[in-house]
Amino acid sequence: MNQLFRRKHYSEADHSTGLNRVLGVWDIVFFGLAAIIGAGSFSSLGEAIFRGGPGVITLYIICGIACGFTALSYAEFASRIPVAGSAYTYAYASFGELMAWIIGWALIMEYSFGNIYVAFSWSDYFTSFMERLGVHIPDYLSTSYPEAKKAFEGGSENKNLINAWTSAPILGGLKFIVDIPALVINACITALVYIGVKESKNFNNLLVILKIAVIFLIIAVGVFYVNAENWMPTNNEGVQGFMPNGFTGVMAAVSGVFFAYIGFDALSVLSEETKNPQKNLPRGMIISLVVSTVIYIALTLILTGIVDYRKFEGVGDPLAFIFAPENGNIPWMEFVVSVTAIIAITSVLLVFQMGQPRIWYAMSRDGLLPKRFSAIHEKYKTPSYATVITGIAVGIPILFTDKSFILDFTSIGTIFAFVLVNGGILLMPRKEKLKGRFHMPYINSKFIFPVLFLGGLGGFYLWQPEFFQELMNWSDPEQGEFRFSVFVYLLINLVLVFLSFTKNLNLIPLLGLSSCLYLLTGMTHNNWFWFGLWFAIGLLIYFFYGMKNSKLQRDLNGDLN
Ligand code: ALA
Repeated sequence: MNQLFRRKHYSEADHSTGLNRVLGVWDIVFFGLAAIIGAGSFSSLGEAIFRGGPGVITLYIICGIACGFTALSYAEFASRIPVAGSAYTYAYASFGELMAWIIGWALIMEYSFGNIYVAFSWSDYFTSFMERLGVHIPDYLSTSYPEAKKAFEGGSENKNLINAWTSAPILGGLKFIVDIPALVINACITALVYIGVKESKNFNNLLVILKIAVIFLIIAVGVFYVNAENWMPTNNEGVQGFMPNGFTGVMAAVSGVFFAYIGFDALSVLSEETKNPQKNLPRGMIISLVVSTVIYIALTLILTGIVDYRKFEGVGDPLAFIFAPENGNIPWMEFVVSVTAIIAITSVLLVFQMGQPRIWYAMSRDGLLPKRFSAIHEKYKTPSYATVITGIAVGIPILFTDKSFILDFTSIGTIFAFVLVNGGILLMPRKEKLKGRFHMPYINSKFIFPVLFLGGLGGFYLWQPEFFQELMNWSDPEQGEFRFSVFVYLLINLVLVFLSFTKNLNLIPLLGLSSCLYLLTGMTHNNWFWFGLWFAIGLLIYFFYGMKNSKLQRDLNGDLN
């Protein structure tokens, strides 16, 4: 049993002292925006709007807050051990091997599966960009098979998806529908990472400026085309409102909304390179999350003000779509947005495709994955094997999955990892303050958390009484799944209220934990099923491979090879 919780010890000798403390607040903000703003704002925003209507901005605020608390937990984690690394490394040192493996396994969902979605959105913008240039890529060569099938069978109004299904040639008795641009960009990015492309701060900053500039342009031009009546749309059942599908509809958009924030966790790795990290790290993290949230709210208002929210079904390039001939009809804007989106999304692909092999590299060095994962290419000095496997892990599912499945899968896995990180910080004993390191401020939650929780519940009741009526409408089977999740959430929070009162827990990770758990209530049973399966496979691999081959275990056996 102790084996599962054996911890890896790092000494100050492991300390990455080679790193200079050169980064200030704005460097952190730029770094954050580089990783955060990508396919979430350029693509998944469309699906989120389709599900929740203009009211989805409330969810952007909730997600922004949840991520803010989680960012502080990450920073605390990073400062606790003297090496730079990912949540996997931190967990190994703090909670032991099993927890580290679970987090490492969940991070695959964030990095590899996240990139599948990013590759799909790259393809959407690339296809519409080529169309502007007069090069038509057939719909069946720019859509995934399951997506076209689902749209056709579900009677979707998205013409491109239906066309992909009806016009596809038959090969070996199967319709030939493949997203070629997504496959090609994945192959190119894998090749770049393989030969060891370098991240450059200046190029990174240039990209961020470009992204933000085009978003400002969309807002500045779009605002003249807004029809405020669209902010109170009517749904297919004739219900009118800011949240036409109710708060339940808004919560159904959680994957798309949360995805837009993924990436801020990467900031914790900068803790060793930040000047005065105690001040600059949290400030930089919070500023980048606030800027992203403001951008998402503004974009949602512009998009839903120009086009009825229902038209965003299956639209993968919503920021260009609002300027298409059938909507705002501004061809040059459609062009500019498509080009910028392609560049912005490529940079996110690169960040994640570089991150995944490095996590596997660390896991392999610890013996939890086969040795080959930590093989370094002689010439290029990159983790070449792990890089190729990442390319395959992203490439194969491009053939067999669709965007919404991948979005849900990525988000549930990443939120789960965040829950563990926040929960983990709560379990850690407080430590003495070391000068020059980040320390999460301690705020006693004893009275504040119970008041916030019960007050929040009461306030929510006054604001959204229909939500509670729907929830208590036992005759409505559609609410069953959501009701179950909400009750589990309330139950866990009552336990947290009790613990905050009796154990004087720190309020910051506690709020991070509670808000991330809240986001999980938006997940369906289907999402949980697939996540559970993924989790079970991970545990099997650990018990049959990692536990025996762990380097700590081998050291214990005296086998130093
Ligand atoms: N937040 C990142 C993006 O939107 C993952 O692309």
